[in-house]
Amino acid sequence: MPAVFLLDKLRTLLPNSIKLATADIAMWSVRVFPEEELIVANAVEKRKKEFRGGRHSARDALKQLGFSSCSILQGSNREPLFPQLVSGSISHCDDFCVSACALSKDFESVGIDCEKVAIISPEMYSLLFTKNEILSIKQDPLILPILIFSAKESLFKCFFPLQKEYFDFLDIEITFDQKVGRFSYRQAPQAKIKTPTYSSFEGFYVYDNIHALTACYVVNNNSVGGIF
Ligand SMILES: CC(C)(COP(=O)(O)OP(=O)(O)OC[C@H]1O[C@@H](n2cnc3c(N)ncnc32)[C@H](O)[C@@H]1OP(=O)(O)O)[C@@H](O)C(=O)NCCC(=O)NCCS
Repeated sequence: MPAVFLLDKLRTLLPNSIKLATADIAMWSVRVFPEEELIVANAVEKRKKEFRGGRHSARDALKQLGFSSCSILQGSNREPLFPQLVSGSISHCDDFCVSACALSKDFESVGIDCEKVAIISPEMYSLLFTKNEILSIKQDPLILPILIFSAKESLFKCFFPLQKEYFDFLDIEITFDQKVGRFSYRQAPQAKIKTPTYSSFEGFYVYDNIHALTACYVVNNNSVGGIF
């Protein structure tokens, strides 16, 4: 299934007020704002392309929110700097990019991740997955290692703007509700840092045999008027 269809599926799981966008692969070669180009001036061509794709898709998501075109610079920890009123996130893999944007009055933060569905070698499991996660991979063929990996990446991108703190793959543990395509997190038994608790966190996932997409958000509890 082309990844755009997966993106449509993800849209149906998320509140309408979170805008998702991608950028056609042809756009990955179209230069972005000069101040954005400076960020990747010394990067290899592959990195320039994914960066541009991500920025184009983010501007599309911003446009859906009603924002005019503006540059999205980079913070000191590589995080994308969206306009002040916006919570946003960007991801890219070999052949697809995706962005998520929402008004920060409604969502404190959002995170998104796309991955090519690849086999993660079992030798890597102990670096990426907790004992419980490894058990669930072994017991349930529908729990793909790449889904746990992607959920952790989108969760990191969602939490970083709030916490300004790095955490490791083994600090959190992901569980899935397969009926609704939802994921949750909890602090891992062997965690080295205290995992933040956000009662209004929601995470969702979609996948086929080529791509896995995960997205998550933390609702702004001061939001008035509902988020859907
Ligand atoms: C940031 C990170 C999650 C990116 O994931 P990735 O799968 O390698 O790459 P993706 O294409 O999905 O995402 C890259 C985008 O993430 C965003 N990003 C990078 N650092 C970020 C941060 N600190 N906070 C929020 N978003 C960030 C950027 O928009 C970046 O794209 P850009 O540089 O073109 O703007 C990863 O590289 C990283 O730093 N990991 C360390 C922390 C971690 O993963 N801990 C385990 C989680 S439990």
